[in-house]
Amino acid sequence: MPPVSYQVEDHRIFPNVLLAPMEGVTDVIFRRLVRQIGGCGLTTTEFVPSLGLSRGDKQIRQMVRFDADERPVAIQIFGRHPAIMAEGARVVEDLGATFVDINMGCPSKKVCAHSGGSALMREPDLAVDIVRAVRAAVRIPVTVKMRSGFDPAHKNAPELAWRCQEEGAAAVAIHWRTREDHYSGVRDVRPIAEAKDRLSIPVIANGDVVDVPSALAMFAETGCDGVMIGRGAMKNPWVLRQIADVLAGRTPTRVDPLEKKRVIVGFLDDQRLRAHTERGALGRFKGVAKHFFDSRDTGAREVRMRILRSQTIEEAKDIATEWYEELARREKSTAA
Ligand SMILES: Cc1cc2nc3c(=O)[nH]c(=O)nc-3n(C[C@H](O)[C@H](O)[C@H](O)COP(=O)(O)O)c2cc1C
Repeated sequence: MPPVSYQVEDHRIFPNVLLAPMEGVTDVIFRRLVRQIGGCGLTTTEFVPSLGLSRGDKQIRQMVRFDADERPVAIQIFGRHPAIMAEGARVVEDLGATFVDINMGCPSKKVCAHSGGSALMREPDLAVDIVRAVRAAVRIPVTVKMRSGFDPAHKNAPELAWRCQEEGAAAVAIHWRTREDHYSGVRDVRPIAEAKDRLSIPVIANGDVVDVPSALAMFAETGCDGVMIGRGAMKNPWVLRQIADVLAGRTPTRVDPLEKKRVIVGFLDDQRLRAHTERGALGRFKGVAKHFFDSRDTGAREVRMRILRSQTIEEAKDIATEWYEELARREKSTAA
């Protein structure tokens, strides 16, 4: 059986099922939604530029806020200058985060153009300098998230992860795709397995873990210490809990449509409470909630479109409520 937890210095990560950082998605409200459902051993903020953080940029500070009871939590930073990354990491420590996570995986042009994110995988010496500088600047554990390499011909994650460990990184998460793969590519988790063989720190596996079978396959194929879930959690925020259930030897939590309604409508209310304007709240909700409506359910596509066209929170709430009640009726009549 796969492990159920892992240790990062003094912190036990339990369960060993993690929510991946996702820009524009995993803000404090989405993370709270996943935490309330359960099964999540560690949350990470969406990435923020170390420069903005170190300069005290208000908007950046907003992006890394976390709930008082959100523990353990990592704040993820990106950048290419070791001294600025170190400065950003100090702010992360002052803000009270459990870990500072260094992004070496982002494929976006905006980030890579300045040699941050996955571009660092092409400049391993610089990547290692960053880890060293950040490690020297803070007492909290430093973790790293990377892809398997910059392109399929250069899958250097095992070597780079090992070098990060030697510089004091306390855990590493590896997404099996390369930067060139973006979000496609042929599944190859061997670099994760190789990193796990070489490293003594925890290795977390990431990429296309969307349900219990794909999580178990990832554990079996890589020997990883934990799995990290991104897009799968947008489609099904219960997936972490279902995986954690199975790791603990329990039957995976079954989610009925009325429970979905309760959680999704609660999420919408939470957005309203937190956002400055109704428009802002609705925008954030639409960005995430469009994934909630499972296209395998007849009519889900149309509901998603109606949600995207909705003008007010009340309207979106009514559409979601109506939809889940309809699904509950369908389930009842199938069971009858
Ligand atoms: C919308 C979106 C935003 C993302 N933002 C970040 C980010 O801020 N930091 C990061 O390290 N990875 C980011 N990622 C990558 C994810 O953390 C994860 O590595 C990737 O989606 C693969 O995992 P998955 O197949 O479970 O989604 C993002 C992915 C998506 C889809």
